[in-house]
Amino acid sequence: MRTISFINLKGGVGKTVSAANFAHILAAIHNKRVLLVDGDKQGNASQYFRLYGEQDGLAALLLNPEQDILESIYTTRYRGLDVITSNMDLYTADREIYGDEGRDTARTLKSVLHQIEPDYDYCVIDNGPSIDTVALNVLVASNDVLIPIRPDDFSFSGLVDLAEQVESAKALNPGLSLRGAFFTHWQRREVFERAREELEKSGICPVFKTAISYNPRVSESTFANQPLCEFARRSWAAIQYKKLVAEYLILANSSN
Ligand SMILES: Nc1ncnc2c1ncn2[C@@H]1O[C@H](COP(=O)(O)OP(=O)(O)OP(=O)(O)O)[C@@H](O)[C@H]1O
Ligand SMILES: [Mg+2]
Repeated sequence: MRTISFINLKGGVGKTVSAANFAHILAAIHNKRVLLVDGDKQGNASQYFRLYGEQDGLAALLLNPEQDILESIYTTRYRGLDVITSNMDLYTADREIYGDEGRDTARTLKSVLHQIEPDYDYCVIDNGPSIDTVALNVLVASNDVLIPIRPDDFSFSGLVDLAEQVESAKALNPGLSLRGAFFTHWQRREVFERAREELEKSGICPVFKTAISYNPRVSESTFANQPLCEFARRSWAAIQYKKLVAEYLILANSSN
């Protein structure tokens, strides 16, 4: 099982939409067995698959790692795609874990996911816009970090900090790779093209060739609670997310 995390300290950049669609495409188009983990107390990834609410999800697992993980895994309407949900309980869990000095709190998620390693090809983790104890757990449990960014100046300033966080997490997880950043909300404007060149030149992290265009169908898909390849199969965003997954798979497979 390979674990891919979508992280950015900045809010509203497209982490959830990207994680959810990435997971759906791996399952629906590439026939992989995929576990999507909602690592954000806002629970948006759970909502996207109509699973938000009362479910005992990630918070329960982090607080009681001995609990049977299968009790926290929910199936979706899509073959091969299951979800570990989150809701506001994750806020409480994060605070409790942070205060618990008695155990090795950063490795809890890794050991929990270890139980289901043989059952899935990919684990895709959506994250909230912060680096807290849950996010540290995610970095320790991940193989690859993907960073969605919006093409504006503020996004880039946070990127340096994030790259440093990933680098320091390598002390706990030497196999971690900052696979790259990719643009969301992309528009063909000269200022964006220049921003992209700047980022590539900066060497902060690799940049994916595929960008996801700004497309109102994306927001509409969140209201419809349907992944893009179902809701708007022919939209640019659906096509570009499929290209992004293909680009990722080539990169990840060639580095093995
Ligand atoms: N390519 C796109 N084109 C148009 N709208 C988009 C696109 N990608 C995401 N959005 C919209 O932008 C908003 C933010 O997206 P999303 O919720 O995925 O960001 P996020 O990084 O997960 O936010 P948060 O930090 O709050 O978790 C949503 O309303 C979403 O529908
Ligand atoms: Mg989100």
